[in-house]
Amino acid sequence: MNKRVTLHEDRVIKRFDDHEHFLREKRVYDAHPDFAPTLLSDNGSDMIIIERVPGIPLIECDTPDFHMAGGLLADLHMFQRHKEMALTMVDTNPRNFLQGSSRGWLIDFSHIALDYPEPDLIHFLLFWAANQPHDAFMHTCQVFIGAYRARLPLDPGRWLSALPAVIQRFDQRRQRYGKSEKYAGNDVLRNRTFLEHSAQQLLRP
Ligand SMILES: Nc1ncnc2c1ncn2[C@@H]1O[C@H](COP(=O)(O)OP(=O)(O)O)[C@@H](O)[C@H]1O
Ligand SMILES: [Mg+2]
Repeated sequence: MNKRVTLHEDRVIKRFDDHEHFLREKRVYDAHPDFAPTLLSDNGSDMIIIERVPGIPLIECDTPDFHMAGGLLADLHMFQRHKEMALTMVDTNPRNFLQGSSRGWLIDFSHIALDYPEPDLIHFLLFWAANQPHDAFMHTCQVFIGAYRARLPLDPGRWLSALPAVIQRFDQRRQRYGKSEKYAGNDVLRNRTFLEHSAQQLLRP
């Protein structure tokens, strides 16, 4: 476990090396949004204490709830908007989506930035593209994108033009952190191609 995050029975203490990361997290937690655990306190510079919620990271769930995940991301994107841009998570690692028995939470806002929404969804789906067989992945995309679009629009042109850079960022991070694909089948490539071509159908107005 990460040495900067300490899990206690009822609270979680998170320490930051970077004051900017602290400020970004605090900006979200200070507004007490429903989609995140409650902020209990902070020290003003490099530490926050938040409520420990009864959820486990989506990637560790036997049956990840992609409908819930799409809804949570839409909640975040509705939280602060500027025209077609939103406060985006940037690090949409499925470990930052916690699933409980009847609801979910988003955590980890240290990279938030104002941007178009599409990269957040693509980056999230790339984790599942790396892990799921093709049929399961197509279903994941359908449910996740469907839940998001029930709340907020997505732009197919922006999706397509954002894809290469988001894939590059994803691959660089995976390399940097030495993560290998859990599901090492040919489906990884098929899944990514699906994100490029067929996902366009899922984004039609
Ligand atoms: N409020 C919380 N309730 C329950 N588990 C949490 C909570 N905050 C963090 N965790 C657990 O700790 C892990 C790391 O926390 P996170 O804030 O994502 O730190 P990092 O910036 O290192 O990714 C999460 O993936 C989750 O498993
Ligand atoms: Mg995290």
